[in-house]
Amino acid sequence: MKKILTIIGARPQIIKSSAISRAIKTHFSEVFSEVVLHTGQHYDENMSDVFFSELEIPYPKYNLKVGSLSHGEQTAKMIEGIEEVLVKEKPQGVIIYGDTNSTLAGAIAASKMLIPVIHIEAGLRSFDKTMPEEINRVVSDHCSTLLFCPSSTGYNNLIREGFNKKIYEKPTINNPNVYLTGDIMYDNTLYFSKKASKRKTPLSIYDDFILCTIHRNSNTDNKENLLEIFSAIKAISENQTIVLPLHPRTKKMLSELLPSFFEEIQSNNNIKIIPPVSFLDMIYLETKAKLIITDSGGVQKEAYFLKKPSVILRPQTEWVEIIECGNALLAGKSYNKIIESTNWFINNPPKAYPNYFGDGQSSKFILDKINKCL
Ligand code: UD1
Ligand code: UDP
Repeated sequence: MKKILTIIGARPQIIKSSAISRAIKTHFSEVFSEVVLHTGQHYDENMSDVFFSELEIPYPKYNLKVGSLSHGEQTAKMIEGIEEVLVKEKPQGVIIYGDTNSTLAGAIAASKMLIPVIHIEAGLRSFDKTMPEEINRVVSDHCSTLLFCPSSTGYNNLIREGFNKKIYEKPTINNPNVYLTGDIMYDNTLYFSKKASKRKTPLSIYDDFILCTIHRNSNTDNKENLLEIFSAIKAISENQTIVLPLHPRTKKMLSELLPSFFEEIQSNNNIKIIPPVSFLDMIYLETKAKLIITDSGGVQKEAYFLKKPSVILRPQTEWVEIIECGNALLAGKSYNKIIESTNWFINNPPKAYPNYFGDGQSSKFILDKINKCL
């Protein structure tokens, strides 16, 4: 058996990990044993625990419980805790997902101990190094031995950064292997949308609505940006119902920076502010929504998978394909652009959604490569 240590910490990583855990259970149960380490970056019941039972993810053997701290303190505590676990568990490889501080900590801790780092969702770039996630992506990729890219854009970014197209029989940190795999979140969306459609949920009371999520620090932690975005949401709500599962970061910043405006928004009958929802409920909402307004990396892609147009509250995105085909529009934090883009899609829904993200079997492909290389 090859022991793999999986590092998760933030909501989207917990969800992503379910695709690989499921594929281990289904296709590689004789090959891999998986130990899960949760850094504790996200800890609210509805940001973490809810996903484990719903998505059949192995419960973490370790939880570092680092909680919410400054970037340096949070990442440092994670590195320290991960190192201790690596010394104890001695895995053959460490899987990290995406671009959060938990990803970065895993990459640094494992690579310094010469344990191969397996980065799933490698190669993505926004080319904006003021985003904490961009630093996390670049550093994590350059500490990795196996890099799995969900899109050809990601693969080409890595080749441009000097990674080699050559596939080594036994890759190392100095001679890493880069693969184009498709997107494990496409695997997940296909798998869980079937389950989501069959279940009953209290969210079925919402009909004919726009779904909205906001949590990017550049949008929430700056009073002017937060006000501009929520003013646009308020203007759109004059003609549309908006369902808004509120990220704890955004809730905190609205309460602190714009308390009276937040109260006004909360009492607006057309803006349905709800706590973060489970993944099956989120897929349900995304499937039912007519349009999605979001600054989330994951949600903009799920919108695309589920054939919904999206208005992206960022100046750029790593998922350039969905912009290039015209099915998502970048509106940044601009009041006018958010309203214009929303109106555009309400009047001009996209007709086709070309497939850029694989065949829904990316997790199996990834595990096959890990098995051959480790
Ligand atoms: C993090 C990731 C971001 C990812 C997002 C997914 C980094 C640098 N950022 O951002 O890339 O898109 O997760 O959701 O890793 N909080 C709670 N309860 C929780 C978690 C957070 O109340 O369970 C609040 C705290 O006030 C905390 C704030 O949210 O300070 C931000 O949390 P943090 O994990 O630092 O960043 P996110 O914005 O969640
Ligand atoms: N998500 C969820 N419940 C919510 C909001 C989002 O399950 O209330 C899921 C969403 O479907 C996607 C993932 O969380 O799979 C995206 O996470 P988030 O937006 O927090 O982070 P990002 O993708 O931007 O890193």
